[in-house]
Amino acid sequence: MAAGLSHGAGVKIPLPQKVDVAAALDTFTAHWTPHVLADLNGQQVKVAKLLGRFEWHSHAAEDELFWVLSGSLEMHFRDGMVTLEAGQMLVVPRGVEHMPVAHEEVQVVLFEPAGAVNTGENPDGPLTVRELKRLS
Ligand code: NI
Repeated sequence: MAAGLSHGAGVKIPLPQKVDVAAALDTFTAHWTPHVLADLNGQQVKVAKLLGRFEWHSHAAEDELFWVLSGSLEMHFRDGMVTLEAGQMLVVPRGVEHMPVAHEEVQVVLFEPAGAVNTGENPDGPLTVRELKRLS
């Protein structure tokens, strides 16, 4: 019998494939360039490398999760700043202006709805990435 998982009445689906997040991060060097690792429920899990200052922006319709894997990430808000260390995460609520700053390279997992644009309501800036590469 072929490998697979039971999925309903006699239906088999392929065994889900694991994703090695560190290996995925090793496949690219560009900063501020999210890469898609997985899709689920209309959301996407992405990884990115951050270095320097991003730009002030907000996302009108999307909450945005940042989960720091390595490094120290400053998330600036108009009224304050939160520093995330490795192993820490934060959800930026929709509509809230924010600007990530990484003084040294930071590796993050992002989780947000598919189609969310990294620069929010400034969709044509120099930091905007429209076509996301997929790593799995
Ligand atoms: Ni954002």
